[in-house]
Amino acid sequence: MSKEYTIAVVPGDGIGEEIIREGIKILDVAAERYGFKTKYTHYPHGADHYLATGELFPDEVLRECADHDTILLGAIGDPRIEVGLLERAIIGGIRWKLDLYINLRPIKLYAEHLCPLKDTKPEDLDILVVRENTESIYVGLGGNFKQGTADEVAIAEMIMTRKGIERAVRYAYHAAMKRDRKKLTLVDKANAIRPQAIWTRTFEEVGREFPEVEQDHAYIDAACMWLVKNPEAFDVIVVDNIFGDILTDLGAMLQGGLGIAASGNIHPGGVSMFEPIHGSAPKYRGKNVANPLATIAAVQMMLAHLGETEASATIEGSIAELLASKQIPDLSARSGLETDEIGDMVVEKMGQKVG
Ligand code: IPM
Ligand code: MN
Repeated sequence: MSKEYTIAVVPGDGIGEEIIREGIKILDVAAERYGFKTKYTHYPHGADHYLATGELFPDEVLRECADHDTILLGAIGDPRIEVGLLERAIIGGIRWKLDLYINLRPIKLYAEHLCPLKDTKPEDLDILVVRENTESIYVGLGGNFKQGTADEVAIAEMIMTRKGIERAVRYAYHAAMKRDRKKLTLVDKANAIRPQAIWTRTFEEVGREFPEVEQDHAYIDAACMWLVKNPEAFDVIVVDNIFGDILTDLGAMLQGGLGIAASGNIHPGGVSMFEPIHGSAPKYRGKNVANPLATIAAVQMMLAHLGETEASATIEGSIAELLASKQIPDLSARSGLETDEIGDMVVEKMGQKVG
């Protein structure tokens, strides 16, 4: 009997519906080709649902999602809704309440012409960012006192726990062990934020279990500089939540844009969630112009995580070929290609691959 994966799907807002449609198209083709089955449960949560029902993302729904083998998320955010409300409830809810403590973000160049840096080749940009996904400034501890007065005080606490850091760092060392270069760079700001020395100490201590891994360190400001100046200096990066958020948007631009950048929110051994890094681009909603490649790349990461390595490799190879050959000339919503056309091109390319 072939394996069946249950997948909770939350398309979300803006272009979410359209890009998810293409992601599912690719999943269905991969399933047929590689002999597994998929069973989807769709969840309507997002701005429209909130406006119609007043419901954000209840714990029962989250529990239901967690009962699936994996979760696929489109994009969240809508200008009609208070800033951050949907994002923190849905993206944050899934990440934090399900304790998806790793945010895995590959920064990989598929085609030289997409990189804004001079003379950077695909072999120069192949980085895996392991972003801690449950702590730091995101915990929401703090608030505003005397809001709106001249005496207003705002506090946002940056929480770092030994356990939280240790599990992220250990995951990153394991990830480095699986790669050819076996180099791991810790990125932090421990010179200015002295409590961040907890990262330095944990990195060194856990590192003793991994003598084969070359250890490296960069402060976040210098890491941004090096990423542009010498991207080939990096292999795997381990970084705290907020700095990882910023660093991976920079990384996405080096890959050619947010149109290709995907991420996995992972709890090893538990349910995980996969999503494109980009936002909901409300102005492109329903126009069939959004580029679905980042969602397709998220699907590719999902399949790799589920152990469908061949299917994942075929999808990644197809994306790489379509970009390198310029059949998909760029990653913006203005590439001249329609959303479903790009999905169809990936399907066709997958069909040409022997595997
Ligand atoms: C991301 C996003 C989120 C984050 C926002 C929407 C809360 O920017 O996934 O990178 O900051 O993590
Ligand atoms: Mn971000």
